[in-house]
Amino acid sequence: MNIPYRPLALGFLLLGLSAAVLQRAQAGGHYYAPVADPVVKEECGSCHLAFAPAMLPASSWQRMMGDLQNHFGDDASVDAATAAKISRYLTANAADAGNQRQGGKWLRGVDAGNAPLRITEMPKWVREHRKVSDREWRQKDVRTKANCVACHAGAEKGYYED
Ligand code: HEC
Ligand code: HEC
Repeated sequence: MNIPYRPLALGFLLLGLSAAVLQRAQAGGHYYAPVADPVVKEECGSCHLAFAPAMLPASSWQRMMGDLQNHFGDDASVDAATAAKISRYLTANAADAGNQRQGGKWLRGVDAGNAPLRITEMPKWVREHRKVSDREWRQKDVRTKANCVACHAGAEKGYYED
């Protein structure tokens, strides 16, 4: 009585696998590699989502890392060696690092050397969110535009479909 279940189980397993692959393929433009470095994840993911490095150009990350003591009203400072390590990771994976599939789209309309420090002030981000209503921004579980996970449940894994 056990035997017929085996091919069935294998069938479900294969179905599950192909669904995962499909999901990834469909996500296409919605996927931004999340932070993979454990130090960056820990130091930059404790107060908010560890933001995807590909959403800002290298110069923005460098300026931000140069003044963590005054980090949007918070003190996010770390020791110099850790800061250098984080900075290397973020700049190596930045929008203009040359290895980002969507880097070009994020840089359209900005001077890469003098871009905003906020992802939420990048023209590409503003364009993607122009249809989001004031009422949605004011919902109490959202609080701030930087609270990506309130609306993008898959953001930690790099998925930004709505
Ligand atoms: C002590 C808490 C804290 C830590 C640690 C911290 N941040 Fe932040 N960060 C904030 C706050 C507060 C804001 C402003 C959020 C808002 O506007 O709602 C912010 C905003 C940001 C933004 C702009 C978000 C936007 O509006 O687009 C970026 C990018 C960012 N942080 C990157 C980092 C990086 C990189 C690190 C690690 C070096 C880091 N943060 C560590 C508190 C922190
Ligand atoms: C209030 C809810 C809300 C918040 C908060 C929010 N988003 Fe979005 N975001 C949306 C919606 C809704 C869309 C889809 C807009 C559309 O389809 O017209 C979207 C679209 C996007 C897209 C485009 C996805 C695609 O279709 O390729 C990206 C990337 C994105 N958001 C990133 C972010 C990031 C990063 C943050 C945080 C810094 C953030 N969002 C915060 C609601 C939100």
